[in-house]
Amino acid sequence: MDNSIFAATLNSISAHVAVLNEAGEIIYVNEAWKRFADNNSLRASNYGVGTSYLNVCDTDEGTSPLSGWFARLIDDRRGEFRLDYPCHSPTEKRWFQMRVTCFESKGQLYIVVVHENISEIKIAEELLLQTRDELATVNRTLRQTMSETISALARAIEQRDPYTDGHQKRVSLLATAIARRLGHDENFVTGVEFGSLLHDIGKIHIPAEILSNPRRLSEIEHTLVRTHAQSGFEILKDSHFPWPLAEMIYQHHEKLDGSGYPRHLLAEQILPEARIIAVADVTEAISSHRPYRPALGTDMALKELQTNRGKLYDAAACDACIEILTENPDFWDRENVRR
Ligand SMILES: [Fe+2]
Repeated sequence: MDNSIFAATLNSISAHVAVLNEAGEIIYVNEAWKRFADNNSLRASNYGVGTSYLNVCDTDEGTSPLSGWFARLIDDRRGEFRLDYPCHSPTEKRWFQMRVTCFESKGQLYIVVVHENISEIKIAEELLLQTRDELATVNRTLRQTMSETISALARAIEQRDPYTDGHQKRVSLLATAIARRLGHDENFVTGVEFGSLLHDIGKIHIPAEILSNPRRLSEIEHTLVRTHAQSGFEILKDSHFPWPLAEMIYQHHEKLDGSGYPRHLLAEQILPEARIIAVADVTEAISSHRPYRPALGTDMALKELQTNRGKLYDAAACDACIEILTENPDFWDRENVRR
């Protein structure tokens, strides 16, 4: 191919191309380079051919890395570097990418400087970032709304059962503290929080007189109360939460050895979230008063966990719970939840 074909090729592309000699002087510019200079009132004599391009790049009071990059390219006589930069006109937001490479011919080093308009990519990136921020805001609002709705639902359930008022909130505080101490991520912790807040939602089907009965329940009443795990599952099973809340509720009375209810699941069949809720639930239930007995206290609850860790209750969750309540004997008081 002769030189005219090379020149025609360079003139046919949209990128602005200049070729420099080893001293950094512009020895060639393509048509796109000239058009850009014409359209932006940048036209120096002969479009800068014969002048030092390195001087043009060295105008940022030494803050631009370009001079150093050029020097290294010339020293190494090989390599490449790129720089994205804004170049807004009074009427238009524009970004360019400068790409600099070099080659040798007959012992001479030539440097190729290409400026390409990347405004469409940059605008798309800006839009993407903006959309991501908007989605994050919507997501935060949705989470907040979900949290408030679930808390309201939890309070509504407990209003029917004043003796256990605040039980689900207290279980939720302890269960989330256990989940965090076990090293679970915040998404898992949020699932545990919401599952705990609703774990007794199925009690909405149990007559209030039974729930607040000040004497020990009969076997028939006990059997009825035990249906709340499955009832809770039925209430939530068709809701599309991003956590298995219905299943957590279904499993919160299961025990590792299969002696729990309603399905007598074994350890490996019980969700980690449900195992944590079970530990928080039994701890809170023993610590607090019940219609048929006074509070047995935190020490009694910790004794239950120590006796049955790994037998009835998840050992790691028990250990975490024991640590939390040993370090903070006034855990629930500090959280300011009514008992
Ligand atoms: Fe329960």
